[in-house]
Amino acid sequence: MSYTIAVAGKGGVGKSTIAALLIRALAEKSREIVLAVDADPNSNLGEKLGVKVDKTIGDLREDLLKKADEIPAGTSKQEFVRYQIQLALVEGDQFDLLTMGRPEGPGCYCYINNILRTFMDELIDDYAYIVIDNEAGMEHLSRRTTRKMDKLIVVSDATKLGIDTAVRIKKLAEEMKIEIKSNMLIINRSPMEFHGIVEAAINAGRFQEVRKVPNDKKIEELAMAGEPLTKLDSTSPAFRAIKEITRDIA
Ligand SMILES: Nc1ncnc2c1ncn2[C@@H]1O[C@H](COP(=O)(O)OP(=O)(O)OP(=O)(O)O)[C@@H](O)[C@H]1O
Ligand SMILES: [Mg+2]
Repeated sequence: MSYTIAVAGKGGVGKSTIAALLIRALAEKSREIVLAVDADPNSNLGEKLGVKVDKTIGDLREDLLKKADEIPAGTSKQEFVRYQIQLALVEGDQFDLLTMGRPEGPGCYCYINNILRTFMDELIDDYAYIVIDNEAGMEHLSRRTTRKMDKLIVVSDATKLGIDTAVRIKKLAEEMKIEIKSNMLIINRSPMEFHGIVEAAINAGRFQEVRKVPNDKKIEELAMAGEPLTKLDSTSPAFRAIKEITRDIA
């Protein structure tokens, strides 16, 4: 059985950074390849992980819709889609990355979506850990990529607005028909102590767990230079905090 972690939160709080560090920490812990899913239409998890993404599932969906009659003779539609998904899977040392890309446009996607869903479900079973980096906000929680999750990690900065958004995301996820086994709030770029107002907002949020990840100068430098997080060495304080978090994950 695979263990799925979905990372959500307000814009720019560090969701993709946390997702990338989680992927590395889980791969090191389990010595297995982690499935990384970039569910943000404005995809950049590939860049953070240091790999190039040529084809997204969104591109694949459009191609299939346009070229439905061009499927090579002797190949069933299912086999063709399976082959295409394999092409969209980018292999790294510690992960396989699937980039969802743009959401579907107008048109009849039911048939394609059904095949895609079946293969995604099959694919997911091959991995011990799946980490989904979501877009900012909460609308995506209703999409198919996040139907069931073992852990919802909501990332926030140490501001009242960030925490309030995090709490709203958690509540919305609970109200939807998504099965969520556990939740955690990560305060990213966290100061040593919180403002009293922030502290109160965190407590009112009733997250099962609250963890802190410190600001990391090296992450700032890498981001400025457009370098991937794979260049971060294992002494990085942010990575150490993430490793600590993954220690307690199944
Ligand atoms: N712990 C940290 N220390 C230093 N810099 C950080 C840390 N976490 C994130 N950052 C920086 O903050 C910026 C935003 O991070 P990131 O892209 O991960 O956020 P995001 O929530 O995924 O954004 P978006 O909503 O656009 O998807 C990046 O420049 C990143 O390098
Ligand atoms: Mg992001």
